[in-house]
Amino acid sequence: MAENNSSSLMEKVISLSKQRGFVFQSSEIYGGLKSAYDYGPLGVELKRNIMNEWWRSMVHEREDVIGIDASIIMHTKVWHASGHLAGFSDPLVDCLISKERFRADKAPRPQPKDELPIECADKGQAKTYVEAIQKRFNIELKRNGKTLYGMKVIDENTMGFFPDDGDKPTETFPYRGYVSPTFGSPFLSDERQFNLMFRSQIGPIDVLGDITSYVEKNKDLDGKELRTGIEEIVKKSAVYLRPETAQAMFVQFLNCQQSMSMKVPFGIAQMGKSFRNEVTVEHFIFRSCEFEQMEMEFFVEPGTQKEWLDYWRDRRMEWWQKLANDPSKFRYRAHEKDELAHYADACYDIEYEYPWGFDELEGVASRTDYDLKKHAEHSGAKLSYFDQQKQDPETGKNGWRYTPYVIEPAAGVTRGLLVYLLDAYHEETVPNADGEDSTRVVMKLHPRLAPIKVAVLPLVKKEGLPEIAREMVSGFFKAGINARYDEQHSIGKRYRRHDEAGTPYCITIDGQTTEDGTVTIRDRDTMEQERISKDEALQVVQKRLIES
Ligand code: GAP
Repeated sequence: MAENNSSSLMEKVISLSKQRGFVFQSSEIYGGLKSAYDYGPLGVELKRNIMNEWWRSMVHEREDVIGIDASIIMHTKVWHASGHLAGFSDPLVDCLISKERFRADKAPRPQPKDELPIECADKGQAKTYVEAIQKRFNIELKRNGKTLYGMKVIDENTMGFFPDDGDKPTETFPYRGYVSPTFGSPFLSDERQFNLMFRSQIGPIDVLGDITSYVEKNKDLDGKELRTGIEEIVKKSAVYLRPETAQAMFVQFLNCQQSMSMKVPFGIAQMGKSFRNEVTVEHFIFRSCEFEQMEMEFFVEPGTQKEWLDYWRDRRMEWWQKLANDPSKFRYRAHEKDELAHYADACYDIEYEYPWGFDELEGVASRTDYDLKKHAEHSGAKLSYFDQQKQDPETGKNGWRYTPYVIEPAAGVTRGLLVYLLDAYHEETVPNADGEDSTRVVMKLHPRLAPIKVAVLPLVKKEGLPEIAREMVSGFFKAGINARYDEQHSIGKRYRRHDEAGTPYCITIDGQTTEDGTVTIRDRDTMEQERISKDEALQVVQKRLIES
C-alpha cells in the first residue's frame, strides 16, 4: 500500500470531501463563510452514523444513562451560574504590523536574551514591514531575505533594538512576554477580553431604537459611560447560543433523575449543536464556530470520582479505537494542574495524531460538584441527591443527602468526523484494466459508519438487470439498510466511486444472475468478489454489518 504523506493527507481529504459530497464550504457560491461547513449527502450520513453509534453505546446499551435533547437557547442565568458569561473569554491581541489577531495565552514566549526575528511570508512583505516598523517605531530592522533582525528580549518587560549586532540597544520598548504566532512580531496591541459566546436578542424589542434614544439623551457622556449604558440596554433582552451542550444536563438534573427514578451513579447524555465565536478557526472542520458535540454528565457519589474518571476515559478510548483502522493514532494525555478548567479536579484528553501532530479529540473531565452547586445557588433549586441506603459520613445517621460529583466525557462530532475521514483515507497501487499500475483511493470507513452500506450495480442497463437490481435495493430499504442503485459509467468506474465513498459492499447483477440467480458481492477493502445467491444477498449484508 502506498504511504499517506501526512503533509498532503489533509489536502487530499479536503478535496475528496468536496468531490464525493462529505463536506462543503458553507455558502460557497458567495465566496464561502469562514469557519462554517455544510455536510453533504455522504457527510450527513457519516455524521449521523457517528452520533447513532455514540448514542447506542452511551444510552441504549446502558441501564445507567438516559438521554435528553435540550434547547440551544437557554435562560441567561444559566450562563451566569456556569461562569461562561464571566469567564468564557480569551485575552486577544493584535499585531500592530501584520494585523494578525491571536490569543495571548497560546502565543510563543521568547525569554530574556532571545532574539526576536520577524518571519515574513516573502521578500516583498519583509520590505513592507521594515517600512511600517520604521514609520511607527522609528527604527530600521535589518532585512535578510524574508526575515527581519535587530530586536531582542532584554528582560520580562523590556525589549530593545540592537542595530548591527551591537551589545547595547539604541531604543527600548515595552515587551509583553510573547510574540505573534505566525510572524514572531513583538509589536503588539494591549490585550482585550473577547466573549466567545454568540449573543442575540429575544422578544419583540427594538434594541437599536432604545440605544438610539439613550445616545440622544446622553450626549454629554464620555465613550466609556456610553458603552456601559448601551451594554445595560442590550443585556435586558440578550440570549446566548449555547457554547457546550453540558449545562442542560445540570439544569435538568432533578427532572431527569426523578422522572426516570435514576439512582446515583447515573448519567444524562445529549448530542447537538454548540456555538463558539472562536478566535482561531483552523484545520478544516477541526475548529469551527458552529459544531456538534456528544456529551454525557455522569453523576457519582463524592469520593468515587477518580475511579469513574478512569472508567470513562477507558470506555471512551475503546469506542474511538473500535471504529478506526489504526488504533495506535489515539492516546491519552492527563491535564497538568495549571491547564485544568476552573470546575475540574482532573481531566484527560483523548488525542488523535492529526497531520499536524497529536491534538484533542475528546475531553474526559472530573467536574467535581461545581456546576450543580452553582446552579443550586443561582436558582434556589435543591440540586442534590438523597441516598437512603448510605450513612451520612458526617453525622453517622442513616440516609445521606449530597451534591453528586460529575464525570464528563465531552466529544466533538464534527471533529470525530474529521478523525474518521483521516483514518479512512488510503491510497493503494493496483493494476488497471490494461494491467498497468494505478492508484486506488479507498475510504476504509468502518461499515457501521459508512454512509452507503451497499451499492447495487447492474452490469448493463438492459436484459432485465436494472429491474433485478432495483428490486434488491428496495429489499435493503425495507430492512433499514442504506443502499444505492448505481448504473452510471463502467463497472470499474463504479467500483472506484464507491471505494471513495467508503461503501463496504458492492453487489453486481450480471448475465449469470438471470441464468442461475446468483450475484457477485465485492468487498471494498480486499476487492475480493464472491458469488452468492441473489435471494441471500440481504442476509449476507445484514450479517456482515452486525459482525463488523
Ligand atoms: N462541556 C465541556 C466542553 O465543552 P471542550 O473541551 O471545550 O469541553 C469538548 O469541548 C469537545 O468539543 C472537544 O474535545 C472537541 O472535540 C469539541 N470542540 C470544542 N470546540 C470545538 C470547535 N470550535 N470546533 C469543533 N469542535 C469543537
